[in-house]
Amino acid sequence: MQLTVVDHPIARARLSRMRDERTDNATFRAALRELTQMLVYEATRDLEVAEEPITTPVTDTIGFRLAAPPLIVPVLRAGLGMADTAHGMLPESQMGFVGLARNEVTFEPEPYMASLPESLVGRAVFVLDPMLATGGSLVNCCTLLTDRGATDITVLCALAAPEGLRRLEESGLPLRVFTASVDERLNENAYIVPGLGDAGDRQFGAV
Ligand code: URA
Repeated sequence: MQLTVVDHPIARARLSRMRDERTDNATFRAALRELTQMLVYEATRDLEVAEEPITTPVTDTIGFRLAAPPLIVPVLRAGLGMADTAHGMLPESQMGFVGLARNEVTFEPEPYMASLPESLVGRAVFVLDPMLATGGSLVNCCTLLTDRGATDITVLCALAAPEGLRRLEESGLPLRVFTASVDERLNENAYIVPGLGDAGDRQFGAV
């Protein structure tokens, strides 16, 4: 597993807004969108491009397009707040969806939906989930992807806990992780500390 911490003054500022308990749902969503832009920007740095001839108003020249835009997979529900921004930056990408709910007793994920292409052989996949806490959901989600042949998976998250990163590492899955912060630890309820609370509730309200 390869870890990249996107440590940038604007990322820190947006993340601080998300952490602040006084931040309302709309402001939280806006900060997550802006942070997602920075994560996608960094995670796409090495994407292959294909050359194509174009004509500017002045002359003919060589332009570029993404050779193979990644499949975008938000993890429901908290990853939804990152999906539109990632798709805006990768408009040619297709989008799949994985729904995982956390069992609040075992803290283990329970899948309730996987809308994915049958084969992911040779396809890069970007998984969106703002919180990498225990790593259980992401191991579950990424295993759904490797079961379909994926070998190039990039996880984008706002925050990661060391425990979750260890679990992803130990899973041996072919992953790159981009996050804006590695926080201190998980608490007894498997929330990230200092964290930002429940990323789904902070975006959409507690339902
Ligand atoms: N999921 C969240 O939304 N927040 C945490 O702190 C941990 C898991």
